Amino acid sequence: MIRLLSVVGARPNFMKIAPIVYELKKYELKKYELKKYELKKYELKKDEFEKDGLKKDELERFPAIEHCLVHSGQHYDEQLSSNFFADLGLPAPDVNLEAGSGSHAVQTAEIMKRLEPVLLDYKPQMVLVVGDVNSTIAAALTAVKLGIGVAHIEAGLRSFDMTMPEEINRKLTDAVSSLLFVTEQSGVENLKREGVAAERIFLVGNVMIDSLLRHREMAAKSPLLDRLGMRQNGAGCRAYGVLTLHRPSNVDDPETLQGILSAVTSFADGFPVFFPMHPRTRKNIESFGLLRYIGNSAGHNDNGIVPLDPLGYLDFLSLNDRARIVLTDSGGVQEETTVLGVPCLTLRENTERPATVEHGSNQVVGVDPDRILKTARTILQQPAGAPRHPPLWDGKAAERIVAILREHLQHENHA
Ligand code: UD1
Ligand code: UDP
Repeated sequence: MIRLLSVVGARPNFMKIAPIVYELKKYELKKYELKKYELKKYELKKDEFEKDGLKKDELERFPAIEHCLVHSGQHYDEQLSSNFFADLGLPAPDVNLEAGSGSHAVQTAEIMKRLEPVLLDYKPQMVLVVGDVNSTIAAALTAVKLGIGVAHIEAGLRSFDMTMPEEINRKLTDAVSSLLFVTEQSGVENLKREGVAAERIFLVGNVMIDSLLRHREMAAKSPLLDRLGMRQNGAGCRAYGVLTLHRPSNVDDPETLQGILSAVTSFADGFPVFFPMHPRTRKNIESFGLLRYIGNSAGHNDNGIVPLDPLGYLDFLSLNDRARIVLTDSGGVQEETTVLGVPCLTLRENTERPATVEHGSNQVVGVDPDRILKTARTILQQPAGAPRHPPLWDGKAAERIVAILREHLQHENHA
């Protein structure tokens, strides 16, 4: 049997691990071993086996997989954590380290201290980490120091901006990982340039898009747009925008935050822009005295910035899917709008996801208020283009990743 352990911790991790969890479930001990036992009856049960994606020769070659899901506790509010497990149909984590908030050093160290005994006890053959948050580097570092191999999902992305905490996390995680699963061609080139051996780099597509494609239809049934008064009697939608902000460079600096909010307010005249606020952003808007840019609440939705609590996965997907424009500093939202074909303005000076600009609907506009205003107005005057997917963003990334993991671990087992 193969033992794998995954570590997640913050909002953007949950929709990345979900497709891996579903895929690994095919090979979980009880079900898989039972199927092996039934191999003699393969011809009789062929349809059932194939529905589960299990082929006879695979059953003969590969052992079952046991998977342990660890939550670091970096995000702990329902709105940033447990709601996602519910929306994504994820089982509750097997372990919650409850590390909580803190400075970068405190949070990272706390996760490492609490994860080490779990790894010593569970003894996984490999640890899987996703994305670029503090939980990602904390888990990767703890595992590799215990001699456990690390697989990084969403490896190779680079903003080339070391003032961004995520860039530090990405580079360090990639440096200690033995398998690097990459979403886009730029990631392959970055890793090769950094001297990573080609046989450790796998361009597999995007697990975040696996989740989006799997849940898009379900999200369309969310009542959110009716509640916000954007869709009446199931009829067409009114035009609206969406705004998300949480990067420290944008929300911890009063002048930058004010500039962004004033630009959005200026073009949102007779046009609502829904703003699900990350707790860090809400706190700063209040303490910097910027509440005047934000409308009162949902219910007065005709124009201006309309504040909302952070939304669950399905509600947020339904909101983005019908938006006329999205303004964001999120990494994941740039990718999701690309696939949805919704114009996206990235309110940063750079992106680590250039495929969303080359193949998608993303424009990196920075934080200059005049430039934001001008670009947003231009977009609103044009019809939205047809969605274009970067290569391999087809809903099958998790399948490819698990197939590679099984091959790799099978060889290790026999080595
Ligand atoms: C983290 C990630 C960032 C990711 C973002 C997604 C790092 C370095 N940053 O940023 O890459 O894009 O998550 O949302 O890992 N807080 C709450 N409730 C919670 C969690 C946090 O109120 O459940 C507040 C606390 O005041 C906390 C602050 O948000 O201090 C920041 O949380 P933290 O996890 O450190 O970073 P994020 O800004 O959420
Ligand atoms: N998201 C959500 N509700 C929100 C804001 C974001 O479900 O109110 C989802 C979004 O669709 C994407 C992920 O959270 O799947 C992105 O996370 P975030 O923007 O927090 O982090 P980043 O991608 O910048 O690291």
